[in-house]
Amino acid sequence: MISPLRKLPTGVRAGLTGLALTLLGGYAASVAYIQSHHSKKDEEPGLSMDDLVGAYHGVDREAPLRVALESAHGEEHLPDEALRKLMISWLSSERISENFESVDLGEFSPAEILEMNCTRCHAKGASEGSGIGNTLPLEYWEDVRRAAFPKRLDPVPIEILTISTHAHALTLPLVALLAGVGLLLTRWSRRFQSQVFAAMGVGLFLDIAGWWFARASEIGVLVLLAAGAAFGLAFVTALCAILADIWLPVSSKQRESQATSNPSQGEPLR
Ligand code: HEC
Repeated sequence: MISPLRKLPTGVRAGLTGLALTLLGGYAASVAYIQSHHSKKDEEPGLSMDDLVGAYHGVDREAPLRVALESAHGEEHLPDEALRKLMISWLSSERISENFESVDLGEFSPAEILEMNCTRCHAKGASEGSGIGNTLPLEYWEDVRRAAFPKRLDPVPIEILTISTHAHALTLPLVALLAGVGLLLTRWSRRFQSQVFAAMGVGLFLDIAGWWFARASEIGVLVLLAAGAAFGLAFVTALCAILADIWLPVSSKQRESQATSNPSQGEPLR
């Protein structure tokens, strides 16, 4: 059988091609937008898991340096309780960066305490500490800075999420439905159509539901990422499958079965 899409006149097929390409371009732009929009969430460059969890759920984490100092790791490597207290009070202060090398706090500056107790492992290329010095050096302020502050990222306000849901939930299903119906009119197997359709519909629902679920649980962020990826992949696949069907030549086998199943319309294709 020749698919209903392939049978359409050339002008209609050209128009459909323009529409499908526009949708693909729009989708690419929205992916690029999401990426650049969320990357700015934390101060680190690039799109990290913190950016995403921060945007959809929120991040509230103690400074790693503080956690380490208050744990067995701190007791082991900084056994002097007075020095540990001094470090904690420095990390609790408002002047963390200003006081890093200041001795005003006591006998030693935080920089010096780290230097004496920590940098034999926590320094780039340190022989001890099985490589921790390369991932978490504590020699210079530029490095210490990354571990000295708590991380608090607030998720987008509920009103914005509501506006976004209203804009996306009322439009994307229609766009996806059109892509899905187009896919059903192609020559590709029912099985393929069914899988792509399922991924698109279920993926879209779980993606948007995940935005809300993520407010309560971090698991929601994973759900929305997986579902969003499934939707995106299926949507792009559906549009590409439509484009391929519209323009790929009809095989002689399809032409034959068309002629036998519907002899009255067996006119040659232009
Ligand atoms: C003998 C080597 C050694 C010394 C000395 C040492 N550390 Fe570590 N540190 C490690 C290793 C190895 C890890 C990674 C594995 C772990 O978490 O135990 C680590 C992890 C850490 C972390 C990251 C914890 C996390 O999971 O985010 C911090 C912060 C830290 N150390 C701070 C310090 C401070 C502050 C000192 C000095 C008071 C210090 N360390 C002294 C070896 C060392």
